[in-house]
Amino acid sequence: MNMHDKHGGLDEARKAADKLGIADATRHIFLCCDGDEAGCASRKQMKKSWEHLRKRLAKLGLRKRGGVFPSQSKCLDICKEGPIAVVYPDGVWYGHCTEEVLDLIIEEHLVGGKVVEEHVIVRNPLSPAPDA
Ligand code: FES
Repeated sequence: MNMHDKHGGLDEARKAADKLGIADATRHIFLCCDGDEAGCASRKQMKKSWEHLRKRLAKLGLRKRGGVFPSQSKCLDICKEGPIAVVYPDGVWYGHCTEEVLDLIIEEHLVGGKVVEEHVIVRNPLSPAPDA
């Protein structure tokens, strides 16, 4: 038994990941929705931004396989001028992610491939992933 086996298999998690299309996503956007911290924006704005992001991606057909995978995040540690979002693999961190700014990010960055410079806080695409 190796160290991974003692916690059981990962079949259920792998099925869930497959159902979500995670392996095929081209981008992953994390949006700070940390209502406990609520340091970067109000809870109300975080909720509105998340609902808007989710619905807009779905409406544009971007949540299907090969599209964009959105995740709510706990505090991303910036805690100012949010809601904060980060898009990977590009490693672009955005501020002021209201519904209007998210629309720009979706249309220009996620669809058009062009970073929305006026809302960028910092960029860091991190290192290339190791081979599996
Ligand atoms: S509460 Fe949003 S970045 Fe910290």
